[in-house]
Amino acid sequence: MLIPINVPQIGEEEIEAAVKVLKSGILTHALGSGPMVKRFEEEYAKLVDAKYALAVNSGTAALHAAVLAAGVSFGDEVILPSFTFVATAEVVVLAGAKPIFVDIDPVTYNISPEKVEEAITKKTRAIIAVDLYGLPADLKPIKEIADRYGLTVIEDAAQAHGAVYNGKPAGAYADMACWSFYASKNMTTGEGGMVTTNNKEFAEKLRLFRCHGEMEKYKSVVLGHNYRMPEIQAAIGLVQLEKLPKFLARRRENAERLTGNLTDLESILQLPIEPENRKSSWYLYTVRLKEADAARRNALVERLRSEGIGAEIYYAYPIHLMPYYRKFGVFRLSETEKASEQVFSLPVHPGVTPEQIDFISHKIRETI
Ligand SMILES: Cc1ncc(COP(=O)(O)O)c(C=O)c1O
Repeated sequence: MLIPINVPQIGEEEIEAAVKVLKSGILTHALGSGPMVKRFEEEYAKLVDAKYALAVNSGTAALHAAVLAAGVSFGDEVILPSFTFVATAEVVVLAGAKPIFVDIDPVTYNISPEKVEEAITKKTRAIIAVDLYGLPADLKPIKEIADRYGLTVIEDAAQAHGAVYNGKPAGAYADMACWSFYASKNMTTGEGGMVTTNNKEFAEKLRLFRCHGEMEKYKSVVLGHNYRMPEIQAAIGLVQLEKLPKFLARRRENAERLTGNLTDLESILQLPIEPENRKSSWYLYTVRLKEADAARRNALVERLRSEGIGAEIYYAYPIHLMPYYRKFGVFRLSETEKASEQVFSLPVHPGVTPEQIDFISHKIRETI
């Protein structure tokens, strides 16, 4: 049996909440804000200390809506990391803009603020920073750069529910933060997403875009989409939100135990760190096999999997090297490319027991 990298943590409470919605007969709302969705938005806004929260039906929808609300359009450029899930870049292209991929910091794997500034041109409209593996990107300098050039900052916080940056919840420094509730995430609604913001204008644009650009039914004032979150999803989300602190505590315990067990291997294995002003949500516990090439790293991952450890690679293909995305320019992102050949992630989700953490540590030591 494999210890999976992530598993949805679903109990009787989520099942009851979903059944209750089914029995209520209210499954959705024509303009996207049914009673459960409204409550979920209110509670989620409290979690991240935001004025507005708009629920949508995926993290990708959240990013797409945010990019459009930022006014990104044909001919614009958007700066983002290549070392992320493809959705971060996909929405830029869907908006008609050009993704400008920049390199990462080799220790945190987050986008490098210096590289962001170097990539700004007259065409730049927005910056997307990703809280990779649940560790917040260095948003303060990024926001300062953006303010100097009049750019919008979008935080892809899909992996960062419960993460902290400079004493504030992840998302606080960005103009808009985008969250995912996909089944593997720290809290889930199966599929689902949210955009949070303190900016009323962005909130209004997001609301319109979420539902066909309709201010009222069947009267579109702008271009929109159907990105509405169903009521069942919101009801499940409310339960998961209540459980989130417990989930995060378990992830942290597991991550810290793994670090404690593996510190003496640090000359071979780079362990994940939390810089002083940041707290990870520990969505993924990602280590780096120093000096390795992809073949050696892949062999190690395969070996761990044969031992029942669901190690995974996030991400073996940086976006700028993916077949579709190569057309956006020839890039050499040395830190991104090196990381993509050396990293792998280990399970620390709330269902992993301390004994399993010790087993994982033992097998890593043995394999290395
Ligand atoms: C960094 C990142 N961005 C965006 C997404 C897209 O979210 P979703 O799968 O909910 O569309 C995900 C998750 O899958 C992600 O990990």
